[in-house]
Amino acid sequence: MKELQIKINATQETSYPIFIEENILNNAYEYINKYTKANRFLLITNDKVYSLYGEKLKNKNTEILILPDGEAYKNMDTLNLIIDKAIEIKLERTDAIIALGGGVTGDTAGFAASIYQRGIDFIQIPTTLLAQVDSSIGGKVAVNHKYGKNMIGSFYQPKLVLADISTLNTLDERQFKTGLAEVLKYAFIEKSCLADKDYKLFEFLDSNHNEILNKNSAILKELISICCELKSSVVNKDEKEKGLRSILNFGHTYAHAIEKLTNYEKYTHGEAVSIGMRLIFDLALKEKFISIEYYNSCINLINKYRLKTDYEENFDKEQFYKTMQSDKKVKNSNINFVMPIKEKEVKLTNNIDKKIIVGGI
Ligand SMILES: NC(=O)c1ccc[n+]([C@@H]2O[C@H](COP(=O)([O-])OP(=O)(O)OC[C@H]3O[C@@H](n4cnc5c(N)ncnc54)[C@H](O)[C@@H]3O)[C@@H](O)[C@H]2O)c1
Ligand SMILES: [Zn+2]
Repeated sequence: MKELQIKINATQETSYPIFIEENILNNAYEYINKYTKANRFLLITNDKVYSLYGEKLKNKNTEILILPDGEAYKNMDTLNLIIDKAIEIKLERTDAIIALGGGVTGDTAGFAASIYQRGIDFIQIPTTLLAQVDSSIGGKVAVNHKYGKNMIGSFYQPKLVLADISTLNTLDERQFKTGLAEVLKYAFIEKSCLADKDYKLFEFLDSNHNEILNKNSAILKELISICCELKSSVVNKDEKEKGLRSILNFGHTYAHAIEKLTNYEKYTHGEAVSIGMRLIFDLALKEKFISIEYYNSCINLINKYRLKTDYEENFDKEQFYKTMQSDKKVKNSNINFVMPIKEKEVKLTNNIDKKIIVGGI
């Protein structure tokens, strides 16, 4: 059993554990009852995840709401369904919402928990690799608006996170790789950025790639725990994304534009992120910010995991640039770039010429 304690600003209120283990769902309520005083629960999941794991979470004190599957349902209508259900079953302030599923379920259910009766306890049970290493940690919860992704949301920390690594066995290869793209992102930023300690993820990924691609459970447990530690150390220093947390956006400036211009349908988020990281490395090489040796070592790692690095579209450069500028993280139209350029050095810049930014598109 791996147990990590997440401390956001080191207060008791916002400190919570993450448990990483195989088959932890079989005794989920032992953990849940230890970390919340809730009497009743509203479990939010989707049809696919419910059919795989719903049985394990059935309990006489738990009502279940099954949502349709997909990013298209991460919206205000679904949020309203959750709130309607909570009111209907008379969920009280001292009760709790449990999210069982990937990042879509976690983000939507977490946002509902943050606003229902001004906030009730929330428990994350992430079942995708992406949710276990990324979206279930850090407290960002949100739904999409038709004009933009994650436009309506809040910062709200769960009471605990239960990451059952055996759920990853039913995840298809494409979704598994989506999570791996975020894992590689952590490896690049750790190597170039967290100068106060020795990095370990890059080497871990380099030497264990067969085990990871074959979902070896001991190795996955170690991998997920390193990622959770990394994300929590960044979030702990900068919960509300005033500075440091922005390094987690590496690759995302391009990724968000690719996702938007293909209507969030063609590529998974992770696929767009690995393409985005490759575009940044190319840009950094072209501008001579990065040595060819460092560039090769990073691109080799991406290729070792057979992550997507190319797209088929012929994007219009002007439209691509405008889409990048409309990202909600862009201030005063300046596009911010996070570039891990060598060991213990990350370049943060918003001063790159438009022609260069979309030159490789
Ligand atoms: N809050 C954050 O900090 C944060 C960070 C990154 C991403 N996100 C959000 O997370 C979302 C993406 O999350 P995701 O990649 O988990 O997508 P997802 O929730 O859509 O899950 C992907 C697919 O896998 C299925 N699935 C889930 N668990 C499964 C399992 N164990 N076996 C088989 N199938 C399973 C889902 O039903 C879905 O079809 C996006 O909306 C993104 O904005 C949030
Ligand atoms: Zn991401």
